[in-house]
Formats: sequence, structure tokens, C-alpha cells
Amino acid sequence: MKKVLVTGGAGYIGSHACKALRAAGFEPVTYDNLATGWQDAVKFGPFEQGDLLDRARLDEVFATHQPVAVMHFAALSQVGESMKEPGLYWRNNVQGSLTLFEAAVAAGCLNVVFSSTCATYGDQDNVVLDEDSAQYPINAYGASKRAIEDILRDFEAAHGLRHVIFRYFNVAGADPEGEVGEFHQPETHLIPLMLDAIDGKRDALTIFGTDYATPDGTCIRDYVHVCDLVDAHVLGVNWIMDGKPSRVFNLGTGSGFSVREVIDHSRAVTNRAVPYKEGPRRPGDCTKLVSGSTRAEAELGWRPTRSTLETMITDAWRWHQTGHYDK
Ligand code: UFG
Repeated sequence: MKKVLVTGGAGYIGSHACKALRAAGFEPVTYDNLATGWQDAVKFGPFEQGDLLDRARLDEVFATHQPVAVMHFAALSQVGESMKEPGLYWRNNVQGSLTLFEAAVAAGCLNVVFSSTCATYGDQDNVVLDEDSAQYPINAYGASKRAIEDILRDFEAAHGLRHVIFRYFNVAGADPEGEVGEFHQPETHLIPLMLDAIDGKRDALTIFGTDYATPDGTCIRDYVHVCDLVDAHVLGVNWIMDGKPSRVFNLGTGSGFSVREVIDHSRAVTNRAVPYKEGPRRPGDCTKLVSGSTRAEAELGWRPTRSTLETMITDAWRWHQTGHYDK
């Protein structure tokens, strides 16, 4: 069975990707330092504990498993934290990815699928965000991901490191079969925080900013189901292994929902009140991030099937109620 090295395979998106890779006939080898991931989320292939900054450990893992490709998820990914501790983001995300790509090149593994973000576009008023849009990140998280995209382009030119870059919009939902789901410690994402508040597991949700230039004053995001997202990654691995050219794809649905609309949908799905209060803006947040591209559908043949807000919240709520990570 062909192996794919999955950095961050113990995390939310990485663990779903491992499940999808396994279903597609690959063996996912998780490489994770467990800083934000969970070993019990590694269910679909071998686990190798290690840090992206540990070149010797990376060399050892490449030599042991000889993966045909790398799927690179491991990263710090909190916009708010990145504004307070940018050094963490540049060291962990940028230097860590650089170390990973150098190890991959040295091992002769020249196929990479990289998890980038719509946060690289920044806050661009009235701009349709497609893959050719300019990238002006307004937070250190987005800046770190943009820098990694640049490294990939330079490494392709110099070392033949071929890649698919996915720029995610907001990932939500959980595996409908309940094997893996979302759990961050600390949790910062809107939907899991809202479900916790509904359940009384934490205080009321705070809406970060109600004075944005949007119809209801709250930020607008494009939510995509984690299972649809990882399906695109399997298509991406096959794309690059088939010898197709390096390519960037947005992964979003093209539909934007405000924070208040997500609250309304959560109330409808759970049939419970959503306790919330209004608070100030969170530094680093963009007003509106919605994909304006159909390239993934047109070129990769990506067909999202679960990315309605109802299905994402329903799947997240089901996972939430299993209490998997109530530690
Ligand atoms: N929000 C609140 N209250 C909360 C949490 C979030 O109002 O307690 C709002 C945010 O201000 C934002 C929206 O809900 O407007 C979504 O926030 P998330 O924290 O769930 O997601 P982000 O949009 O900040 O970040 C996510 C990913 C990043 C990615 C980014 C692109 O975590 O990796 O989407 O927007 F880069």
C-alpha cells in the first residue's frame, strides 16, 4: 500500500484526512508532536511522534516509511493567538515547514499537498476571492501560510518539489460515522464554542464585533465540511501523483454566513437556545472571507456533498454529544 506522510494527522482536519486516505487505498502515516493533536485520533495508520523542527526525526521517519507524498497539515492556526505571539507562528509554521520540505527533498519524496488558508488573502473589500487574487494577510497566521506557499514555489523551481496548495475557508462539521471530530484545547472556533454554550459546558458565546460593514454587523465566513475538504485532498494527492502541474485551489462553497446567521442555524438544528452576548472585535479578523472560485470543482472534480450549514452543524452536534473529548 502506498504511504502518505500526514503531518498533523492527530489533529482535527488531519485525522479526517487519514480516514479518507485509508478509504482511498493509501496508508496514512501520522507525524505529529501532539502539541494540539490527540493520539487517540490516530486510528487509520501508524503514528510517529515528532516535531516539524526536528530534522533528524523527520529523516528517520522518511527513511522508515518511504512515503510517496506528504500531506502537510501540522501548524498553529489561531488567528487571535498569531497576533499576540507572531514569533510562534513564524518559527513553528514557517521554519517547521521549511525543515519538512528540506527533509522531503533529501528523501526524494517530491509530492506535497499543503494546507493553506483564505487568511492569506486578507481583508479585501468587494473582491471576488479566487486563486489569482492578491494576497495581503492581516494577521501573522495568514502571513506565515503565505510564506510557506512561497517556499513551495522556490523549492519546485530548485528541487522539483511538486505541490497542490489548498486555501481553506472555514472548516466545520465532523465525521458522520463519529470516529473522529473537532476538538481543540483551547477551543477558539465559532461552531464548537457555540455548541458548548448551548450545552451549558461553557459560558455564553461572545460575538466578536457587531459593527462590521456587513448586513447584520457581524463577520461573514464561507463554511466547508471537513469531510468534503479532505475528499479534495485525496483528489489533490492523485492529481500530483499523476504528474499534473503544481496548482492552487480554494476550498469553499461560495456561500457566506454571518456569525448571527450561524447562531440562527444552530438554534434551528439543536432546537435549543444559544446563549450569547455581544463583544468587541477580535484583532486580526477579516470582515468577509468567501470563495469566488470553482476551480476545484472544474479541474479536480471536487463535489462537496455535506457543506450546507445545517449538515455541518448537525454533524458537529452529533460529535459534540458523544462527549469523546470531555476530559
Ligand atoms: N467568532 C465569534 N466568537 C467566538 C469565536 C469566533 O464571534 O467566540 C467569530 C469570529 O470573529 C469570526 C467567525 O466567528 O468572525 C469565525 O471564527 P473562527 O475562530 O471559527 O474562525 P476564523 O475565521 O477566525 O479562522 C478560521 C481558521 C483559520 C483560517 C480562518 C480563515 O481557524 O485557520 O478561518 O478565516 F485561516
